Amino acid sequence: MKQQIKQHGITVAVVLGVFVIGAGVFVYSGRYDMGADAPHTKPVFAVMQAMRERSIEVHSKDIQVPNLNDEQLILKGAGQYAAMCTECHLKPGMKDSEIRPGLYPQPPNLSQVRVAPKEAFWVIKHGIKMSAMPAWGLSHDDPTIWSMVAFLQKLPDMTPAQYRDMVAKAPPDEDMDMDDEGGHSHSRAATAADSDAHEHAAGTPAVETPLSMEGMKPNAAPAAEAVARAFQAALQRGDRAAVLALLAPDVSISEGGQTQTRDDYASGHLGEDIAFLKTARITPVSLGSMPMGDTAMVGSESDMQATVKGKPATLRSREMLNLRKDGDSWKIVSIQWQTTPVPEK
Ligand code: HEC
Repeated sequence: MKQQIKQHGITVAVVLGVFVIGAGVFVYSGRYDMGADAPHTKPVFAVMQAMRERSIEVHSKDIQVPNLNDEQLILKGAGQYAAMCTECHLKPGMKDSEIRPGLYPQPPNLSQVRVAPKEAFWVIKHGIKMSAMPAWGLSHDDPTIWSMVAFLQKLPDMTPAQYRDMVAKAPPDEDMDMDDEGGHSHSRAATAADSDAHEHAAGTPAVETPLSMEGMKPNAAPAAEAVARAFQAALQRGDRAAVLALLAPDVSISEGGQTQTRDDYASGHLGEDIAFLKTARITPVSLGSMPMGDTAMVGSESDMQATVKGKPATLRSREMLNLRKDGDSWKIVSIQWQTTPVPEK
């Protein structure tokens, strides 16, 4: 009897050992396709799905849910959602986005699917590993995350018009100036000119957090940096054709809380920016970049001595460009600009 148990024990240990070695060999062989365009095999998918669901359920079970029917909270969430989530999770009336088809797993369409508050809060705060869902808790406090959760509870019942109205009334996303439907229109020149009396759509004074240059290093993506420099130089020279040649057809340009397409910019603010920059003296402060495969980010800061309302003023300008490799050259696919007065000492 004892002998038998011992033999069984050895068999189990050997089988386990073979299994572990087999798994190791498989991992090392590199046979598994980690590409986001090749779906997981069924067993892997089932394991990942179960692990994700259980993990979220267990981690979120003790979260205390605040009152989610507070209208101000919902309104704040609308602004946050419009600024940060629609490219992946869509909005009423939006069928698809440029990034969605390439994401695996696919982000749920949150204009149609309602996620339980505790789970939504946990996922928004912590993100989901090995998916595109970021951990927003690293850059947002809990009340802000609750505002998004509150808004998500209403979103699936909203029509496109209701959504637009709510976002237009929402306080701007102050963490990053990326609100895609803010109700006002400012060029860099205008933003600079009224920065001392700067009002956002909802009438709340803007407290803008500077664009973050975190993770940017000089010369990390030299080709993309060269394009960023050429772009700045073309703007300062007032060379419209050269400016437009560096912009991708689908570029989005955010300045002063408003996002514009290439056509909007070409027919509007580009002229104002060129006129403004002609009067300004520009001192580069820093420039860095971050390569990400066929895309790269280039962030830069410069000081501008300009005349604002007849008085000399110093402005700090921050620029964040996203570039995409297009054959041999790089094209700018998004621009964020932020101009803030440098306080007189
Ligand atoms: C870059 C794309 C991307 C962005 C931006 C993004 N998400 Fe997600 N999100 C995902 C993906 C992908 C998933 C699904 C992950 C999975 O299923 O493993 C997800 C899942 C979620 C879920 C869980 C859904 C469920 O069924 O459990 C919530 C809630 C959510 N996101 C909210 C947000 C909010 C709010 C924002 C904006 C602050 C946001 N997401 C921005 C990609 C994104």
